[in-house]
Amino acid sequence: MKFFIDTANLSDIAEAQALGVLDGVTTNPSLMAKEGVTGSDAILAHYKKICELVEGDVSAEVISTDYEGMIKEGEALAALHPQIVVKLPMIANGVKACKYFSDKGIRTNVTLVFSVGQALLAAKAGATYVSPFLGRLDDISTDGLHLVKEIRHVYDNYNFETQILSASVRNTMHVINCAKIGSDVMTGPLSSITGLLKHPLTDSGLAKFLEDYKKGNG
Ligand code: G3P
Repeated sequence: MKFFIDTANLSDIAEAQALGVLDGVTTNPSLMAKEGVTGSDAILAHYKKICELVEGDVSAEVISTDYEGMIKEGEALAALHPQIVVKLPMIANGVKACKYFSDKGIRTNVTLVFSVGQALLAAKAGATYVSPFLGRLDDISTDGLHLVKEIRHVYDNYNFETQILSASVRNTMHVINCAKIGSDVMTGPLSSITGLLKHPLTDSGLAKFLEDYKKGNG
């Protein structure tokens, strides 16, 4: 399973990259605003900085909701850097734009997906990635991981090439369960990745190894 980090924070991205396990980055307008990145020039420059920090795909989201606007914005984003994947919302114009970009060989990520039907549409439109938001479903007492399972089942039935990018991942158990289900990618905050490191038996075992080494070696 590929690990993407879901942030526009450059130091979190650099920390995940330094760990050597990062495969890409996802962002959205809320995450950009959280970092205080505003205005189209600053936003484009920030995407470029992210692309220079990592080797994998970087999802950059359009903010237009009309078809022409999505095409114009998406083309500008795709031209910015070869690692950019155009992120489009799951609305009718987003599906149309997804088909347009996939026919042109421009990679896409269809976002804000909350049902199998939406995931089916994204795959039929040729999306590179589909982003079911599992944490936000959990927030409203609906099983987000069940949606990921159902999409996996449907995509496998037809050998769809669209990759399932489980998004709105909030914690390490989400990551582990996504891996069990066979999600192609997960995207979450830095803590969902670094949290996987932690085990008290690792810490106590290492402390004992070092203590015993010191005893024998002074
Ligand atoms: O990138 C979109 C998605 O991952 C949002 O996550 O935690 O705001 O629901 P969250």
